[in-house]
Amino acid sequence: MSTFQPVRGMRDLLPDEAERLTYVISKARETALTYGYKEVITPVVEPLELLAAKAGEEIRQRMFIFEDMGGRKVALRPEFTASIARLVTTVLRTEPKPLRIFGVGSVYRYDEPQKGRYREFWQADFEVIGSNKPEADAEVILLANSLLSRVGLKGYAIKLGHIGVLRNLLTQEGVDEKTQNAILQRMDKKEYDAAFALVDSSKCQTLLRGLLNLKGENPFETVQNLCTYLKDYPKALEAAQYLSSVLKLVTESGCSIETVDPAFARGLEYYTGVIFELYVPELNMALGGGGRYDKLIEVFGGEPTPATGMAAGIDRIVIATQAQQTKLQKQAFKRVAVFPIKEELKVEALKIAQTLRNAETPVEFEIMGRKMAKALEDADKRKVDYVVIVGEREIKEGKVIVKDLVKRTQTEVEIKDLKKTFAT
Ligand code: HAM
Repeated sequence: MSTFQPVRGMRDLLPDEAERLTYVISKARETALTYGYKEVITPVVEPLELLAAKAGEEIRQRMFIFEDMGGRKVALRPEFTASIARLVTTVLRTEPKPLRIFGVGSVYRYDEPQKGRYREFWQADFEVIGSNKPEADAEVILLANSLLSRVGLKGYAIKLGHIGVLRNLLTQEGVDEKTQNAILQRMDKKEYDAAFALVDSSKCQTLLRGLLNLKGENPFETVQNLCTYLKDYPKALEAAQYLSSVLKLVTESGCSIETVDPAFARGLEYYTGVIFELYVPELNMALGGGGRYDKLIEVFGGEPTPATGMAAGIDRIVIATQAQQTKLQKQAFKRVAVFPIKEELKVEALKIAQTLRNAETPVEFEIMGRKMAKALEDADKRKVDYVVIVGEREIKEGKVIVKDLVKRTQTEVEIKDLKKTFAT
């Protein structure tokens, strides 16, 4: 039998990669804490109907769908928002608003595998439920900004838009919702010609094209020009004005917005308001994105409840940190190996190892029964910092030998002082 490989699009993360991933997750968790978001853990497998309801064609077609042994149509979650909306319409229904919820875990999409695009990837998701105010949109954007800054990324940019501009403009022009969804899907992929071809009226086509040209260097100017552009479209204008207030709140709180894009659309169908994405110059794909979805909770049978949120793509943030050679700000522990010089000293040595571990020093105990020379050679290869050698004479004196493998020195240390020796 040939050896097994992971399924296409799925990856093994080896220790260095896993360390970066969990580092970013820890930063996401810290960010959630500093903004008052409470963590929930939801299932990876959800009812297909829930996940498909408002996901949008693009994601619907890329879900891992199967029937469980009870004949239920289920799927692996392609994102968190639907699961959290499910909580809000059920067990969290009577919780006081606003609700601030955080979730992190793996999600699944049958995307074409390439760098930064996997079939199993990780998201950190933040949702704020119950506010229809620009402050809530601003909060989520500021939170996204804080996360990237906490991770140590530089030069990242935020792209901002409002899906209500396109939707309301199309509605006023008599374009039905289904066609709107198809247009927005294509605009999300920047297939503008294909998108505009779905509109019958040439006036409407020209209007949409005009939106593309409004994007300028200065986001404030762009919003202003957008408002002028939409003067005959009151609902779309309202959306642009809302966008303007979010832009003001965010920038005045010290987070700069690189671009306002009036023709900005996102793949998910549930968005109703402000939307945004995060980028770094080194990567040609979004590190995260989100937006307002005021109708989803109602669609799931809850009270009409405004909501907004965002998901950070952990794997892509990891790639960005590698591209920018970001140092992980981790507590540096000294690594210690403990060897008994002979079989009879095993128990003594193990006791010493346990004492050190209890004092938070990582210890690798000799479990291969090797001779000292071999064990030392191996410790060197593993880049252990110190080796504690438990010998007969030293133990009788309450001491051990400590070899510093970095400095290549050796000293005798009293067992009671060992913890101090390795403290960082
Ligand atoms: P999304 O834009 O579909 O939004 O995904 C969020 C992030 O997940 C993307 O910006 C990207 O970084 C990452 N991502 C997406 N697909 C892949 C992939 N195949 N491989 C690696 N990373 C990927 C959502 O999922 C919404 N639920 C966000 C949201 C929350 N909106 C409101 N609340």
